[in-house]
Amino acid sequence: MAKIISGKEVSAKVREQVKTECDELKSKGINPGLAVIIVGDDPASRVYVNNKKKACADVGFVSEEYALPAETTQEQLLALVEELNNKPDINGILCQLPLPGHLDETAVINAISPLKDVDAFHPSNVGKIMIGDYDFLPCTPAGVMEMIHNEGIEVNGKNCVVIGRSNIVGKPMAMLLLHENGTVTICHSRTKNLKEICARADILVAAVGKPKFVTADMVKEGAVVLDVGINRDENGKLCGDVDFESVEPKASYITPVPGGVGPMTIAMLMKNTLKAAKIQNGII
Ligand code: GUN
Repeated sequence: MAKIISGKEVSAKVREQVKTECDELKSKGINPGLAVIIVGDDPASRVYVNNKKKACADVGFVSEEYALPAETTQEQLLALVEELNNKPDINGILCQLPLPGHLDETAVINAISPLKDVDAFHPSNVGKIMIGDYDFLPCTPAGVMEMIHNEGIEVNGKNCVVIGRSNIVGKPMAMLLLHENGTVTICHSRTKNLKEICARADILVAAVGKPKFVTADMVKEGAVVLDVGINRDENGKLCGDVDFESVEPKASYITPVPGGVGPMTIAMLMKNTLKAAKIQNGII
């Protein structure tokens, strides 16, 4: 039987801490502000953006939503980013991805000031993470690490396997585990012997985007299993990348979906926005 790590509980702790620090900043006349850009009407993006705005309100941040129509041009979007880069009461800028196909995501990410890049997607921030000297960590991998730390799980010397190599999750996740002296393997769609590699993992992070991809035969007895996936199963029910029912009895710790990594991502966004406000006001 695994211990189920509740992202709801761990994220509430993080948000509480952010709220306390936000109150302190407000007493000094500093009101942290996050701008959220959403282009088009992707329903999943709309849900994420609403949740981010609600989280801002809960911790006491100002949030500004910029909802642009799907036919927004690249020039219009870049002009908005530039305006927000120069807006003093905005400390963090987040452009919800994915963007409609005609827009160049990389160009938009590159246009956000690295000082306001609370997603930590800008190449300058990505490079800093590689070196291990960073201000912001990408929210989802940082949330996974927060869960690991909160449980007192040791990474040092452990076999860590990350399934997925995206810029947003897989690659930075591997780097953060490496920073803590994990022996890290990144698996992807071309990996041979995926099952055997996963079955050697003491810490297994699934960020593959396929419902119930990780099955019990891929998991070592006593492994820590962290599920980044948010998918729909064949009945339209939310599920992760891990087949929870079969894996849970083998794992020592496991994160559920929903209520696992998802809430952590937003809590870490709040943490990054607070840090951005502090940096921009010369407090750290
Ligand atoms: N789309 C899915 N996850 C994310 C995220 O963490 N940040 C942004 N900006 N877009 C996303």
